[in-house]
Amino acid sequence: MAIYEINGGTPLMGTVTISGAKNAAVAILPAALLVKGSCRIENVPDISDVRILLSILESMGAKLDQPEPGVVIIDCTEMHETEPNPALVRKLRASYYFMGALLGRFGRSHVALPGGCSFASRPIDQHIKGFKALGAAVTETDEYVEMEPCAEGLRGNRVSLDVVSVGATVNIMLAAVLLPGQTIIENAAKEPHIVDLANFLNTMGAHISGAGTDTVKIRGVEELQGGYYAIIPDQIEAGTYMAAAVATGGDVMVKNVIPKHMDCITSKLAEMGAEVTNYDDCIRIRSTGKLSCATVKTRPYPGFPTDMQAQICVCMALASGISRLTESVYETRFFGYCTELESMGAEIHIEGKTAMVVGKDGLHGATVRARDLRAGAALVIAGLSAEGTTRVENIHYVERGYERLIEKLTALGAKIRRVED
Ligand code: EPU
Repeated sequence: MAIYEINGGTPLMGTVTISGAKNAAVAILPAALLVKGSCRIENVPDISDVRILLSILESMGAKLDQPEPGVVIIDCTEMHETEPNPALVRKLRASYYFMGALLGRFGRSHVALPGGCSFASRPIDQHIKGFKALGAAVTETDEYVEMEPCAEGLRGNRVSLDVVSVGATVNIMLAAVLLPGQTIIENAAKEPHIVDLANFLNTMGAHISGAGTDTVKIRGVEELQGGYYAIIPDQIEAGTYMAAAVATGGDVMVKNVIPKHMDCITSKLAEMGAEVTNYDDCIRIRSTGKLSCATVKTRPYPGFPTDMQAQICVCMALASGISRLTESVYETRFFGYCTELESMGAEIHIEGKTAMVVGKDGLHGATVRARDLRAGAALVIAGLSAEGTTRVENIHYVERGYERLIEKLTALGAKIRRVED
């Protein structure tokens, strides 16, 4: 199994270009199966989650072409399959978007329960509630979810989510876009990737309004046609490089970002002492050599993202004073990396939803194990900042979501290698 070997202690310096957003791509690729015609999608990140989704689409009859890096041309016009390969579906979380997309296109679906990072219990009851509200008869087992139209048939409806859920919002949008009537999703997620999905679908002929607010309205259309779309930059990948710049005492120009999407992250890093300068589509982040403790609570967008919890925890571990980090989306997410950070010299006390992080002068290298994608990213940052050698195991988690990580970090001066253990 491959590992990352990192010789830490070098400040990151230079420019990094951010790839297309993973969590937008993993919604937009299944959405392409709603389209009759060819979709040219640009800024598609080359990460393992995307590669698996493309295999699933291809195995269901989609015609795929990848004429150049970052570009995928998908034509699902001839697709008839309503049961994606269960073994592939179980490899990632976002494969649950085939439930909504297949229901929307064919009125029926049979999709295995998804896999993916298991840092918490990740129920899909709100997705199911949405599908039922749209008229689906749903059969759930321990292995799969099967749907067909109920006696009255599928049609738009009002769905009020009990919890703000990215996945449920996306899945209901996918299921509703081709249904007769209007669907209104209340208490919808507002993440940038929800807006990106709505923009993609609207470009192909859908009528979706309100994406980015807590009420999304979808007026069903008969057909979507092909077109061209470019995925937004990845907010979390950008935030990860920013945290790495700060933790290593570096100075990095982060290119291809939407600065507005980054506010929730950059404002915290600035509060901790980093110097942040926003430009049109890039952000320079420079360490001032001082890092102060902070209080952070993760929340749905526009709050501080749970997907940046672990990375900012590394900055806190190196800050002066005691930081308070509260998780309000996935309570058990701390367990994916805090023990590993402690083996590198961090001091973290977890009390329920809050971690008290006692800042230290530095971390030291160790052999650590990634337990999910963002936990793995945090261990890489910790290794980059630490004295000595860090070996990060289980890197397939990290490769789910970070395109060309080694190449990008090496260009910033990091001493990191991917080696076969
Ligand atoms: N929830 C329910 N019932 C549901 C759905 C969600 O109770 O039916 C709860 C969850 O347990 C959680 C909260 O609602 O407490 C939010 O979950 P959400 O549905 O928003 O998460 P998700 O759609 O499964 C996406 C991202 C995650 C990211 C979360 C939160 C994708 C593929 N995944 O997951 O990304 O952490 O939103 O922003 O978009 C990552 O990129 O590393 C990652 C894990």
